[in-house]
Amino acid sequence: MPSKLNRIVLALGIAALASCGKDSKAPLLPVSQDSLQSLGKRLFFSTILDQNGRKSCASCHKPELGFSSKVSAHAGPNPKLPARNAPSLWHLSHKKQFNWDGGVPSLTQQVLVPLHPMGDFETPPQAAVDRWNKAHPHETPIDLATLCLALEAFQKSIQVPATPWDRYSKQAQEWTGNAKLAWQAFNQNGCASCHTPPSFTDGNFHNTGLPDFTGDEGRYRITGKPQDRYAFGTPSLRGLNLTKPYFHDGRSFALDSAVLMHYRGMHGRELSTESLAAIMEVLQSLFVDSTHQQSHIP
Ligand code: HEC
Ligand code: HEC
Repeated sequence: MPSKLNRIVLALGIAALASCGKDSKAPLLPVSQDSLQSLGKRLFFSTILDQNGRKSCASCHKPELGFSSKVSAHAGPNPKLPARNAPSLWHLSHKKQFNWDGGVPSLTQQVLVPLHPMGDFETPPQAAVDRWNKAHPHETPIDLATLCLALEAFQKSIQVPATPWDRYSKQAQEWTGNAKLAWQAFNQNGCASCHTPPSFTDGNFHNTGLPDFTGDEGRYRITGKPQDRYAFGTPSLRGLNLTKPYFHDGRSFALDSAVLMHYRGMHGRELSTESLAAIMEVLQSLFVDSTHQQSHIP
C-alpha cells in the first residue's frame, strides 16, 4: 500500500510536492504575515508564474465570480488528470483537504498543482520563482517556500461575504411564514445533513449518484477504497449566484435544474415543485453581492 504522500504524488503526478509541505523550510528571510499576504496577492494576479506568460491564478479563480470560473471543466496539460470545474476559493478556511477529491492535504502544497511542467502553468516551481525574481530586480529575492506561504496567506484572507441568511439566522424570531417553511423544506429534504450551516458543507465526501460523464472516479483516485468511487467533496452553498456552473464537472449552469438532478441522483425520484421552490428560497438567501470582492482586486 503506497504511503499517503505517495498516493497524492501518484494522483497528481507531482514530484516536488514535499518542498511546499508541512516540513518546508522557513522562508529565506523572516517575512511578516501582512507582507506575505500582499506578496501573495501580487503572485495570485501575476502571469509571470505561467511558463507562457498568459495565465494567472485569477484567470480561473476570478474574484468577481467568487474566485471560481465560468468554464465547466478545465482540462490541463496532464491527460491523466480529470477535467474539473474550478472551485470557489471562498471556503478555504474550513477545509482540511483540497480539490474535489481531497487529494491535496494542505493549502501550501496546493500551490504546486498548477506549478508543475504538466500543471496549468506548465513550469517547474523553481523556474517560476526564478522568473519572478528576475522580473523584480529591486526587491528581495523570494524562494519557493516563501512563494507557497505567500499564496497561502493571501488565499486565507479571502472571506465569503455575509448573506441575507446570516442576518436572518441571528434573529430566529424572524423565521416566520415563508422563510420558516423554506428552512423546514431544506432540512426535511436532507440538504442540511451534508450542507450543514453555517458553512453549508460537512467537509466530507459523498457519491451523490450523478451519472458519470467524464470517467472521473473522484475520491477513489486518492484512497483506492471502493466506497469512495465517484465521491466528491461537499461544496458550500454560499454565493451560488456567482459560482456557476455547478458540480465537479460543471455540468449545470441553472441552479434549479442542478438541485433537481442532484435530488434525483440521491433519491431515485423527483423533488416536488413546492419543495424545489422552498429550497430555492434558502439558496437565494445565501446569494452574495459581487461588489463585496473589490478589496481583493488589485
Ligand atoms: C487553468 C485554470 C486554473 C489555474 C490557472 C489555477 N487553478 Fe486552482 N483550480 C483549478 C481547478 C480546475 C481546480 C480543481 C482541481 C481538482 O479538483 O482536481 C482548482 C483547485 C484549486 C484549489 C482547491 C480549492 C478547494 O476548494 O479545494 C485551490 C486552493 C487553488 N486551485 C488555488 C490556485 C492558485 C493559488 C493558483 C495559482 C498559483 C491556481 N489555483 C491556478 C483551476 C485553475
Ligand atoms: C449526501 C450528502 C448530500 C446531500 C444530502 C445533499 N448534497 Fe448537495 N452536494 C453534495 C456533494 C458531494 C456535491 C458535489 C457533487 C459533485 O460535484 O459531483 C453537492 C453539490 C450540490 C450543489 C452544487 C454546488 C456547486 O457549487 O457545485 C448544489 C446546488 C447542492 N448540492 C444543493 C443541495 C440541496 C438543495 C440538497 C437537498 C435537496 C442537497 N444538496 C443535498 C452532497 C450532498
